[in-house]
Amino acid sequence: MAFINDHYLKLKAGYLFPEIGRRVNKFCEENPNAAVIKLGIGDVTEPLPTAIREAMHAAIDEMGEAGSFRGYGPEQGYGFLREAIAKNDFQSRGVDISADEIFVSDGSKCDTGNILDIFGANNKVAVTDPVYPVYVDTNVMTGRTGAADENGRYAGLTYLPVTAENNFVAPLPESPVDLIYLCYPNNPTGTVATKETLKQWVDYARANGSIILFDAAYEAFITDPEIPHSIYEIEGAKDVAIEFRSFSKNAGFTGTRCAFTVVPKQLKGTTASGEPAEIHPLWNRRHCTKFNGVSYIIQKGAEAVYSEQGQEQIQSLIAFYLENARLLREGLESVGISVYGGVNAPYVWLKTPGESTSWEFFDELLQKAHLVGTPGSGFGASGEGYFRLSAFNTRNNINEAVTRFQNVVS
Ligand code: MLT
Repeated sequence: MAFINDHYLKLKAGYLFPEIGRRVNKFCEENPNAAVIKLGIGDVTEPLPTAIREAMHAAIDEMGEAGSFRGYGPEQGYGFLREAIAKNDFQSRGVDISADEIFVSDGSKCDTGNILDIFGANNKVAVTDPVYPVYVDTNVMTGRTGAADENGRYAGLTYLPVTAENNFVAPLPESPVDLIYLCYPNNPTGTVATKETLKQWVDYARANGSIILFDAAYEAFITDPEIPHSIYEIEGAKDVAIEFRSFSKNAGFTGTRCAFTVVPKQLKGTTASGEPAEIHPLWNRRHCTKFNGVSYIIQKGAEAVYSEQGQEQIQSLIAFYLENARLLREGLESVGISVYGGVNAPYVWLKTPGESTSWEFFDELLQKAHLVGTPGSGFGASGEGYFRLSAFNTRNNINEAVTRFQNVVS
């Protein structure tokens, strides 16, 4: 008899984005002439910048010569990329992260899920609500929760509501938690955390022996100079936080796949017998056992992100998507919609008009305007009554989407 992992049976029917895809495909089959605009999943639309492509081409040529051909690379990533990340993303901001604290991977989605391998099943886990569903679903899969209630909240998880009422600032948990997922700039709300907010979390983690899993996949979209890009900008964070970063959204790697996770050497957890234990060797062991590294060609492309030309090109990509976010935000506000986020992030989070639930509004927008967004309730019970629009699209589609949206709600 082959037993399954029964925890999978607790998961809600489908992962959010495939469920949206299913509804959209059905609509398109029934309405083959509808020009549907998709602002649902945050997938980039603009081509890979030239500097990145040129680096990849050169790497392909190297792979075609016996003298420069490469097979397996280091599981943790090539030194050239880890050094470039440490220098440009951290040291240049006065943050003391070294290359050997960086693990190159094929995505933050994978890393934020896989990280649970190295943590005990008995940890009390806190997530904001709404939240990027991967954090919740991977905890369910690994048996860290009970069943979901009628609102989709799993027993055993601590949910920290973030809504317009608390200005999207997560309250500290009322009873102690061990692992805390934070994502800033936030997916889905598009809001950011100030230094003071992050300091509160770092202080909390230090006082409670907790570890913060800090997802900074959207840090490149921060425009406000007062907002921290890394949790390690907060004093003491290296003792209590793991940070996840990605090349997906800033440099167009959603299809190409490259990301990295920072595990400071001084970060410690606790063994079952109460002894302190370093996290870095555990993640290194896990990474080397279950992962064979990102391809050389892709890592050369990622390295080019940090070249002068690469920086110019990715800054113009980021500015392009942020301008899309501005157009969405202002276009919606002009017809009386309450809009949040979209200033330091590529997501616009809005209140659904009238009394519609998030999914009702999703269906209405699809049927009447042939527009796709993401229902807030798909990100958690406290997302009910909200809706997310992604700014990743062409300018024409964004302009057209704003017009169609305005027609539906006015
Ligand atoms: C989203 O739309 O929330 C993101 O695209 C999901 C992801 O990056 O995995």
